[in-house]
Amino acid sequence: MSSFHKIVVLGAGNIGGTLAQRLAERSLADELVLVDIIEGLPQGKALDIQQSAPILGFSTRVTGSTSLEALRDADLVIETAGLARKPGMSRSDLLGKNADILEVHAKAVRDFAPAAIVLVVTNPVDVMTHWFRQVSGLPPGRVFGESGTLDTARFRWFVADELKVAPRDVVGFVLGTHGDTMVPILSLTSVAGVPLSRLISAERLAALVERTKKGGGEIVELLKMGSAYYAPSAAQAELVEALGRNEHRLLGVTAHLNGEFGLTGLCLGVPVVLGRAGVERVVEVELTASERTAFDASATAVRADLEILAQRARSPA
Ligand code: LAC
Repeated sequence: MSSFHKIVVLGAGNIGGTLAQRLAERSLADELVLVDIIEGLPQGKALDIQQSAPILGFSTRVTGSTSLEALRDADLVIETAGLARKPGMSRSDLLGKNADILEVHAKAVRDFAPAAIVLVVTNPVDVMTHWFRQVSGLPPGRVFGESGTLDTARFRWFVADELKVAPRDVVGFVLGTHGDTMVPILSLTSVAGVPLSRLISAERLAALVERTKKGGGEIVELLKMGSAYYAPSAAQAELVEALGRNEHRLLGVTAHLNGEFGLTGLCLGVPVVLGRAGVERVVEVELTASERTAFDASATAVRADLEILAQRARSPA
């Protein structure tokens, strides 16, 4: 028995395909369906992944479809569809086009898989998570977005590389929005419990924080034709595993806020406890004064994008 009966990954691009591979290899579902509008793409990637089963030893059934009816009775849906950034673009530049795609998908989830948990990955992820929840009408704890585990992984790697220590020994949180105003929380970052301030100079730390904030953009500039997908899909798979195995892990996700951190009516990267039913609770960690200021700037940036989306809804093009 796998963690999930049926996982549907919407979007069979670089993220969707790589994520499907990671999920199948970890046997996290009995059935895994890749869905995309490009005929042949989801079927081809699914068959390719499926044929690795005899070698890798998983028994997940992997198929592809171009129909949103494939969502029927899914217990986990991962939204990866939409455009990715090209060099020079911000995540917010994707707002309108991706909102239109997600609107169709959110309605299909409402109709075909109303009991599902939804993990949103599409950018700008904080805004898209809010939008997906609003359109689908699903409970807030069952619709959340991935960004914190990815941004945190990037920061953890930069710290590990700087100190030449094992990457997994670096723990911490990057909170706020998945954008230039994201907030690496230095007061909560350590190497196996040793605070960073005892290991790295303030100047070097500031450089690592800056590189983390631009972490996604650095890869977009290198690839020139799309954005990152290996680390993003690893971060998403970690969340799926935490959900499916009901681990109650404390992880950073883009969660709906209803008064936590003094904020309401938006989704933002915060620490949560994740269990089989989704977000069990938001954990309101104390921030230093400067972290709090940066966190509030994140909220302001997300609210600005939400307002653009609301204006669009009032006067559609
Ligand atoms: C990144 C994109 C996927 O951060 O948002 O790489």
